[in-house]
Amino acid sequence: PAVEFGLEAPFSVEYHDTIPSTNSRARELAADGESDVVVLADEQTGGRGRLDREFASPSGGIWLSILFRPETPPAQTPIFTLAAAVAVTRAAREAGVDAGIKWPNDVLVPAETRARQTGPDDGLVDGEKLVGILTEMEGEADRVSWVIVGTGINANVDTTDLVPEATSLREQVGDVDRRVFTQRVLEEFDALRSNPDQIVPAWRELSSTLGQRVRVETPGGEVVGEAVDVEFPGSLIVDTDEGTVRVTAGDCEHLRPE
Ligand code: BTN
Repeated sequence: PAVEFGLEAPFSVEYHDTIPSTNSRARELAADGESDVVVLADEQTGGRGRLDREFASPSGGIWLSILFRPETPPAQTPIFTLAAAVAVTRAAREAGVDAGIKWPNDVLVPAETRARQTGPDDGLVDGEKLVGILTEMEGEADRVSWVIVGTGINANVDTTDLVPEATSLREQVGDVDRRVFTQRVLEEFDALRSNPDQIVPAWRELSSTLGQRVRVETPGGEVVGEAVDVEFPGSLIVDTDEGTVRVTAGDCEHLRPE
């Protein structure tokens, strides 16, 4: 059911009222040889998050996946996750939301905006989640075949329909015009994907992670120290007692303030 959504975007848009997962649909389109397509849905019934987690995607959100075929080598794919985070954070700030990027791929709003019980392990201490990003790709050693940047924006949804540590645009500033918001995100993403050198500087400006003491769980163990920088294509640089450690986005299982 391909319906034009009426967005003036540099992508063709396939809109669904309801679909299991826009990322899964984008994978089908990738297998069919498509590119520069956005799959957009009002509701997902099987939204997927990182690390095989479920992602709540009730009606009223902006659930979208961007399929494209960049020239960059596979190892640089994480840069597009950062680009999506920058694009959405800019759009959210323009809508009046105090949003910041938590490395590697979440857009958060400071937790004190809502009175709740918080403890060290409840995931609320560093903010409430407004956006999640799941980037998938296929490629060989030096060539990307396709990249799908899946972005879930909790837009005009009640927080009671989301996980406890999440917030929504509705909760923060009231309902937004999803067409305008989506168009803004896609324009910004398109500008950044063709100027990859601008992504990290833009990301630094919007980050809520840099300058914080953090504890990052990785397959190789915990990294504890001050998050001092992000380097192309998306690694976090942490100053630890044992020296400087570089953590790639794919290796981050969990990050929390120390
Ligand atoms: C995460 O927070 O772990 C990432 C969540 C990514 C959710 C988006 S919603 C649109 C796209 N389709 C999916 O099934 N997942 C992504």
